[in-house]
Amino acid sequence: MTYRPHFHFAPPFGWMNDPNGLCQFDGTYHLFYQYHPFGVEWDDMHWGHATSSDLIHWEHKPIALRPGKTYDRDGVFSGSALIVDDVLHLYYTGNVWLDEKREALKQVQCLATSTDGVTFTKHSANPLISNEPKGGNAHVRDPKVWTANGRHYMVLGTRDATDGKVVLYDSDDAIHWTERGVVAGETGEHGWIWECPDLFHLDGQDVLLISPQGMEPNGDRYHNLHQCGYFVGELDVETPVYTHGAFTELDYGHDFYAAQTFLDDQGRRILIAWNAMWKRDWPEQAEGWTNQMTLPRELSLQDGRLVMTPIEEVKTLRQTCEILQDPTFEGDALELTFEAVGDFTLHCYGNTATFSKRGDEFELNRNGDIRRIRANGRTFRIFFDASSIEIFVNDGEYVFSSRVYPAQQARHSISGDVKNLTLYRLATAT
Ligand code: FRU
Repeated sequence: MTYRPHFHFAPPFGWMNDPNGLCQFDGTYHLFYQYHPFGVEWDDMHWGHATSSDLIHWEHKPIALRPGKTYDRDGVFSGSALIVDDVLHLYYTGNVWLDEKREALKQVQCLATSTDGVTFTKHSANPLISNEPKGGNAHVRDPKVWTANGRHYMVLGTRDATDGKVVLYDSDDAIHWTERGVVAGETGEHGWIWECPDLFHLDGQDVLLISPQGMEPNGDRYHNLHQCGYFVGELDVETPVYTHGAFTELDYGHDFYAAQTFLDDQGRRILIAWNAMWKRDWPEQAEGWTNQMTLPRELSLQDGRLVMTPIEEVKTLRQTCEILQDPTFEGDALELTFEAVGDFTLHCYGNTATFSKRGDEFELNRNGDIRRIRANGRTFRIFFDASSIEIFVNDGEYVFSSRVYPAQQARHSISGDVKNLTLYRLATAT
């Protein structure tokens, strides 16, 4: 038995965290990721790299970025991609520790470029941004860049003494950046730092995605160590002011952080997140690798909420389709779909996790650690992949993403009032 996924992206070996630099360059999809190739724990960050023609089958590529310059000596931290004049630009944060305890740090924003999509050269103008932003502090990182109306924009995540926030920059040439100011933060309610910001236009609105650290649990919400969620609003780049509504969690499972999006050449806004959470146990480390990404999801805005649907290509993994008569089934690469008539309980991976409906309450219970929402859940699409479960309710209106480590063989069962139980066996793509 192995915890290694069949159709979720995982590093070949070593430690992986955030997805970085998601893009489509010359028709090929690129996924970069925070990577420590020399061990199964987080340490000096590199950018791992993989490419794909369908976002499902990935080919591992040589490491794209390594730490080593004076400005990124102790890590090439998270960032994003922009294609300018047929050149792939990777923006990232250079990290330098200023003390032995690795507490004091200097973070600067940097660029590396490539014309072939495989070999990257750090830019001679690095670091492009080395000042702490006004209203922020030394923790300033994770550049997300985009182009609109002929101008380039960048957001960075930062903090002051108490609050996380996002700072906007702009540029004519994608090299020289002007600080425009804080566009979101200072609410006093959303944690002490906002990591991995992403600001994008979707269905007529501007969505700001953030990964805040330090939010307190509130009722059924915010029970992960750190959160990942969004605001919906409108960004005025001239003033610059981002007017927005309330913060909403994006995923309701145990393992979802540092999500990043990109626009592909079909105009789809696609999201991939780190299917993990900081500071927990990683049983797969015994196998020489750590962590996986979520399935790629296509985003849409419906009634002011972000909806995440597995990209259409996921269906190409289906090998067999079976209308389930027996409520017990086995397998570690499966997709299960059904509709709820009344209440139900799904036992996953033996009893390692259960997902149940009681009236309008949905609960994912992983070894007693419960995530709960109230919702009108009608249809269910559930992916089992060796050591994870992803549950899409109502085509992605609500999603739960969790790693689950089964003690023995992958045996599952469902009881309760459901109909149209359909099981697909999925191919191995990795
Ligand atoms: C988010 C994060 C980023 C940082 C990276 C370092 O998980 O903390 O803010 O750039 O990981 O690996």
